[in-house]
Amino acid sequence: MSRVAYVDGQYLPHHLAAVHIEDRGYQFADGVYEVMGVVGGSLLDEGPHLTRLARSLAELRIPAPMSMAALRIVMREVIRRNGVHDGIIYVQITRGVASRDHAFPKAAGPVLVVTSRRKRPADPRAVDDGVAVITIPDIRWQRCDIKSVALLPNVLGKQRAKEAGAFEAWQVDREGKVSEGTSTNAWIVTSDATVITRQADSAILNGVTRLAILDIVRREGYAFVERPFSVAEAKSAREAFLTSTVVDLLPVVTIDGDPVGNGQPGTLSGKLREYYLARAASAI
Ligand code: PDD
Repeated sequence: MSRVAYVDGQYLPHHLAAVHIEDRGYQFADGVYEVMGVVGGSLLDEGPHLTRLARSLAELRIPAPMSMAALRIVMREVIRRNGVHDGIIYVQITRGVASRDHAFPKAAGPVLVVTSRRKRPADPRAVDDGVAVITIPDIRWQRCDIKSVALLPNVLGKQRAKEAGAFEAWQVDREGKVSEGTSTNAWIVTSDATVITRQADSAILNGVTRLAILDIVRREGYAFVERPFSVAEAKSAREAFLTSTVVDLLPVVTIDGDPVGNGQPGTLSGKLREYYLARAASAI
């Protein structure tokens, strides 16, 4: 089945799908996006993702290209046309096409792009053996709560991780606290079994997976605190893990080459991953 993309009102073959060279997303990274999971042909956590999308648009004063109800229909159509059963859907909205000028254009309308693809199965080694993270300075802007397509620091950070043989880079703020990964939220479990993740302020993206894991943690009665943690605290934690729509939950076994806990994936991380996958399966 050949891939189809929705671009500004049309369903097009993926290889022909294109935006204008003066799209503000292309020139200014003036746009927002969402990545949602498709599980058994259904959208996982569609509500929270669309709520966050609407919030990102409002924060940047980009008008919605259509109602959320209409967007839900377009997303389903893209999933259907691509025959995606288990995968992801990517939704991007930019401020539109206008001749280059930093201030908002008067005439341009927002441009919506929706693509979908099958999910690569989770790397069993990443799940079973855990992953390595490195730490890097957080050089991003002060509105990381907005899911903007301006991702250059994240791109550079992920590349540094890759070149260091690690899976992710945890970004560290000026106070020495971990904010989040380049495309994932960061978590630790302390020696007294308390789950810690940074509070959802403007320093991090409030991950939809993060919110789901917090729900599970509450439901299962584990102790948890939403607060910043330092690199030193993370290195001496019992467990660490990371979360996102794309990777679900992966255990972190080393930070900057130092083992976390006994250097093996943590028991609680494993349980939370199982609970999360069961929750996703039951949402079908
Ligand atoms: N990234 N933090 C950042 C900076 C992210 O880019 C993401 C998601 C997350 C996790 O959010 P969620 O649980 O809602 O996926 C945290 C997406 C998947 C991406 O850019 O591909």
